[in-house]
Amino acid sequence: MANRKYIVGNWKMNGLQSELSDMAAIAQIAAAHSSVDVAICPPLTLVATASAQNPDFSIGTQDCHFNEKGAHTGCISAAMIQQAGASFSILGHSERRADQHETDAEIKAKAEAVHALGLGAIICVGETEAERDAGKAVEVVCGQLAGSFPDHADPSWLTIAYEPVWAIGTGRVPQARDVEEMHAAIREKLKTLMNSGADAVRILYGGSMNGANAAELLAVANVGGGLVGGASLTAEKFGPIIEAAVTS
Ligand code: PGA
Repeated sequence: MANRKYIVGNWKMNGLQSELSDMAAIAQIAAAHSSVDVAICPPLTLVATASAQNPDFSIGTQDCHFNEKGAHTGCISAAMIQQAGASFSILGHSERRADQHETDAEIKAKAEAVHALGLGAIICVGETEAERDAGKAVEVVCGQLAGSFPDHADPSWLTIAYEPVWAIGTGRVPQARDVEEMHAAIREKLKTLMNSGADAVRILYGGSMNGANAAELLAVANVGGGLVGGASLTAEKFGPIIEAAVTS
């Protein structure tokens, strides 16, 4: 598994029923590229239908609450996303860390909650531009990783996504050497956080990945795949990234 690239689309707050045709087209491309692991995280409203329509395709969610149930208006539990057909969840995306004030401790609890039901987790980490300019990028990212790192972590269910906040949705992408430095730092940190398996945890890069830059980013050492926002919304844009993952 460690050698298979993992390409995950994060649709964010995009996608109505009419976009399920894009999902089907992406699932078809994924099926034709069986050496790559591909998944899409649509908005929650599409998860059940998308998974029913594409039973062999991996569907995830963009968040999940850490409690099993209770008085949490607007929230969704791990059992709920599982019942809807999701097999994993993105957790701690920088937009949620900023907009919903999610803390590392909550993200850790969320990862443990999804794992308790046999679901996977992609935990996102990433520095702001000010933090990078201050020379603190590695420190910030490794701090987030340690703080949000779940108990019983194992590469069979846990993935990390490094997403520099300043690269998300901006069209700006870090230099390959900066990606390499950060992914190496994350790998070293993982070794201190896990008894075994740190080498096999996939570390995705995310932030303005597209069909034109994917091959270069995916070829960087310790880059195990991509977490893709804008370029995952259509098969036309997402397909070339999946193809780039085959050869990288
Ligand atoms: P982007 O988003 O590809 O649109 O930059 C990536 C993400 O936020 O996961």
